[in-house]
Amino acid sequence: MEIVMTGGSSGLGAEALSNFLNQGHKVILLARNPEKLNVKHDHLRVIKADLNSLQSIRHAADEIIKTQSSIDVLINNAGIWNFDFQESEDGIEQTFHVNVVAPIFLTQLLLPILKNAAHPKVITTASGLHQGSIHFEDIQYRNRFSGFKSYRQSKLCVIVWTRYMARKEKEVFWATQHPGLVDTKLVRSGGFFAQWFFRWFGKSPEKGAKTLVYLVNENIEKLKTGEFYKNEKVAKTDTLASYDLRNAPKIIEIVNQITKS
Ligand SMILES: NC(=O)c1ccc[n+]([C@@H]2O[C@H](COP(=O)([O-])OP(=O)(O)OC[C@H]3O[C@@H](n4cnc5c(N)ncnc54)[C@H](OP(=O)(O)O)[C@@H]3O)[C@@H](O)[C@H]2O)c1
Repeated sequence: MEIVMTGGSSGLGAEALSNFLNQGHKVILLARNPEKLNVKHDHLRVIKADLNSLQSIRHAADEIIKTQSSIDVLINNAGIWNFDFQESEDGIEQTFHVNVVAPIFLTQLLLPILKNAAHPKVITTASGLHQGSIHFEDIQYRNRFSGFKSYRQSKLCVIVWTRYMARKEKEVFWATQHPGLVDTKLVRSGGFFAQWFFRWFGKSPEKGAKTLVYLVNENIEKLKTGEFYKNEKVAKTDTLASYDLRNAPKIIEIVNQITKS
């Protein structure tokens, strides 16, 4: 299969990437620091892309479209959890930019070539941390920033967006996935306690990659589109807001306003 993926340079994404290459898939990896990657493979193509930059996302998508008439799978795995308010180069709060704007925008740009595949899939890494509601009145938490709320909201947004897209674009399979608590560098800016917590309670990236690898390889007829997966099975999400599809067009509209500017 031809896979495009983000977030394959570390953590559970790096583990999934090595699985895909060993399984014979061809991968186009979008990475912000290609020079730091220590994986080389005939089936791996790396495109430099910083998901904190709209221009960089557009450029990466153009590079892919230039050479690919179709792709089978898009994996939006990259994600951040910032503990302080920081803006992207486009002036957007970074958690919102990387975890919400980037996957939606990249998917929009690549959807035409995804639809050329026989059984296309869009898989986005969400999280079990998606409780609460969407803070539409200040979606970037500019007034009172909370890294926890911003991260949690970002994952709720992609869950709702995925459920909505599954109804709208039926020829594509859509899913979100939760890898479990995994010992990675996700909380790198969170200080000693957060890092200790993930190190102590987190599972290995190898185990954390399992659901993502499963979703890529499983026959589409055995999967349920729009769902949230964990432990290689469909799982319930925790709040009513995660099933409230009326929020999806609002999220898409906010992203479209950002990406048009
Ligand atoms: N760890 C957990 O317990 C857990 C639980 C639930 C969900 N998740 C989700 O799992 C996904 C993978 O995270 P992880 O835990 O494996 O953490 P990680 O090791 O920090 O991996 C995050 C990945 O995202 C990439 N990334 C971040 N910002 C980027 C940007 N601006 N442009 C391009 N790439 C960028 C990173 O690239 P660099 O190598 O360049 O930093 C890295 O490849 C995330 O979506 C995360 O929210 C993790």
